[in-house]
Amino acid sequence: MARQRIVTFNNSATKPEGAAAFDMLRTKILQQMRAQGWKRLAITSPGKDCGKSTVALNLAFSLSKQAEVHTIVGEMDMRRPTLAKALGLSGGGSFAAVLEGKANFADVAMRARPNLAFAVNYGQVRNPSELLQSSTIEPALDEIEARYQPDLTIFDMPPMLQTDDTLAFMDVVDCVLLVAAAESTSLAEIDVCERDLAAQTNVIGVLLNKCRYMDNETGQMGYD
Ligand SMILES: Nc1ncnc2c1ncn2[C@@H]1O[C@H](COP(=O)(O)OP(=O)(O)OP(=O)(O)O)[C@@H](O)[C@H]1O
Ligand SMILES: [Mg+2]
Repeated sequence: MARQRIVTFNNSATKPEGAAAFDMLRTKILQQMRAQGWKRLAITSPGKDCGKSTVALNLAFSLSKQAEVHTIVGEMDMRRPTLAKALGLSGGGSFAAVLEGKANFADVAMRARPNLAFAVNYGQVRNPSELLQSSTIEPALDEIEARYQPDLTIFDMPPMLQTDDTLAFMDVVDCVLLVAAAESTSLAEIDVCERDLAAQTNVIGVLLNKCRYMDNETGQMGYD
């Protein structure tokens, strides 16, 4: 987990670098979502590799430290799913099948903590755009929520600029976090994505990831 930058996984007294920042993000997101009565949070970015999945996993494990908060993470990247590998899961039913109404959430989801479950995809899904715009999604999500009563469902989305998969799904979420990567995402890209997202849902924030910093003691460059 540490190698994959999942810094909130362990609950040790000395927090790994970056964990405090995710705990702060968790608190802010939780406060805002509770205040507004929001339950569904999407995480996306303009281009690929900005750190959406890393942020989704860190946020989820950070949330799981609050015993009363129940969270589900749903992988919505159907073209290049990565969560199974990141979590060390192999073989199993895909979340896509649940969204299509072809599998039960209980048979597909993996409970990582008493208050945290993951539903991921194994391999590429056929017709990802059609699935994300499909009328089966909303009832499938409603059923999961009615049955398991999560306080929060986090959707790990694909990047926005290559396909319209993400925008198509924004109608069914309450809010979205836009992840940008310092040095690779341009201001114009953030601008256009934020505007498009705001037309469909509530933009809860823009997170700047992969910021470079100079270590004061060693003088070496690092990432945050
Ligand atoms: N803050 C960071 N500093 C340095 N590297 C990072 C940081 N966050 C994520 N990464 C690395 O960047 C790569 C892409 O991360 P991740 O898979 O989370 O991005 P993504 O936006 O979900 O990508 P995709 O568009 O493929 O879904 C991974 O190797 C990850 O370890
Ligand atoms: Mg990803």
